[in-house]
Amino acid sequence: MAKKLFIKTYGCQMNVYDSARMADVLAPLGYAKTETPDDADMVIINTCHIREKAAEKVFSELGHWRIRKTEARAAGGDVTIAVAGCVAQAEGDEIMARAPFVDLVVGPQAYHRLPELLARMERKQGADRRRPAAAGHGPALRGSGVMDTDFPVESKFDHLPEQAAAAPGPVGLLAIQEGCDKFCTFCVVPYTRGAEYSRPAEAVIAEAGRLIGAGAREIVLLGQNVNAWHGAAADGGSWSLGRLLRALNDRYGAQHPGLRWRYTTSHPREMDDDLIAAHGEIAALMPFLHLPVQSGSDAVLRAMNRGHTGDDYRRIIEKLRAARPDIALSSDFITGFPGESDRDFEATLQLVRDIGFAASYSFRYSARPGTPGSLMPGKVPEAVATERLHALQALLQEQAAAFNRTLVGRRIDVLFDRPGKHAGQLIGRSPWMQSVVVADSGLAIGDAATVTVTAASASSLAGQLVLAGDGREAA
Ligand code: SAH
Ligand code: SF4
Ligand code: F3S
Repeated sequence: MAKKLFIKTYGCQMNVYDSARMADVLAPLGYAKTETPDDADMVIINTCHIREKAAEKVFSELGHWRIRKTEARAAGGDVTIAVAGCVAQAEGDEIMARAPFVDLVVGPQAYHRLPELLARMERKQGADRRRPAAAGHGPALRGSGVMDTDFPVESKFDHLPEQAAAAPGPVGLLAIQEGCDKFCTFCVVPYTRGAEYSRPAEAVIAEAGRLIGAGAREIVLLGQNVNAWHGAAADGGSWSLGRLLRALNDRYGAQHPGLRWRYTTSHPREMDDDLIAAHGEIAALMPFLHLPVQSGSDAVLRAMNRGHTGDDYRRIIEKLRAARPDIALSSDFITGFPGESDRDFEATLQLVRDIGFAASYSFRYSARPGTPGSLMPGKVPEAVATERLHALQALLQEQAAAFNRTLVGRRIDVLFDRPGKHAGQLIGRSPWMQSVVVADSGLAIGDAATVTVTAASASSLAGQLVLAGDGREAA
């Protein structure tokens, strides 16, 4: 009988991708995915360590699974509890110490070794069963305590099975790069994911083909520093991301009209002219770019070790808009980084006013253990950081709403990728990444269609169907 695997995913798209790949690795061992936690034989909590309380959230979730494991053991069964992802990497030892009922701790570079780890786990469980229970108040609930957070020399990508042929849905995720060598002083990613690694071009092109074959209509190339990708190519050279995008579009674009491409997340320092030019050349590369800037103050950017100034960022955006006039921008911001003054914060607001963003994510600075930022002087009081965050978010919300209003009355192409709240309702993605809600379209998930935008808020659009994707008049 198939064992049931429940995966809970936190954090970024890379974790979403990795969760799917862990399911692929475990499938040959008889694990089938379940969406209901209650009947799971194994749970993987795929964690994120990017901001405060991440670890605490994991421990509180583990408390729930401890109860499940106790119940399962009492009934003569068991639930295997695994912690994966960036908290596993950063706090593996602490998890083992504080939550001894956990069976497996597995870091992001070790997912291809899951079968080996499960075998080790079973051997340990066998040995534990043969050992007499400890004297005292009865045996504590113990897991098998197997941990693998090594950064191997070889890449996990060379060892993972092919992405499962099971339909990926209309939006296919494709990790092409992993890790980060940038060491922004606030960020844990270089420590939790390791050094930058680029998958070879051919492996990426082949995986894209499989995703398209399985029904993907939009492919999102992923990486912690995706535009730092410089994969080995079959011609013996090393390609840049611009070259890869052209190759993917040349290979699949003509056969699959309507196929769309995106990539995320990028770093300003890696936005080279060739990649910018690709935005002008490839119509199927969606006119939207998430390009985190973090701050508009050069002093703060320097302290963050970002390697660019506010004006560098403005120039990149200028070039992008020259290449692709309809491009919309999105960014990440941090308020309250150590040393950030009122003037520094004002520079951030000014940069936001100068650029005009269509979407954004903004966060209050969170001191992360082990990062240089956590040791910097000039801590900004929480109340000040929060106040700045609210001021920034008000401006960003206003900009998003203004951008979305410019779309009202326009016809746009939408790829429907999920159901809405109400019967008959579908939600899709616009070229600029807004959610577009359409009622009673008669379409299905995976369909693309032209929609007239009828209303807009800061976070989404409402629309009415004009033409089905294949050119038929809609009913
Ligand atoms: N690789 C991406 C994003 C990494 S994390 C990049 O380089 O842009 C996503 C976002 O979380 C970051 O862009 C940053 O805005 C935010 N972030 C990261 N560490 C943070 C911290 N310590 N405190 C607050 N926000 C943080
Ligand atoms: Fe973190 Fe900076 Fe690397 Fe992005 S570029 S993952 S923010 S260290
Ligand atoms: Fe979080 Fe790790 Fe992604 S810390 S944002 S899951 S790379």
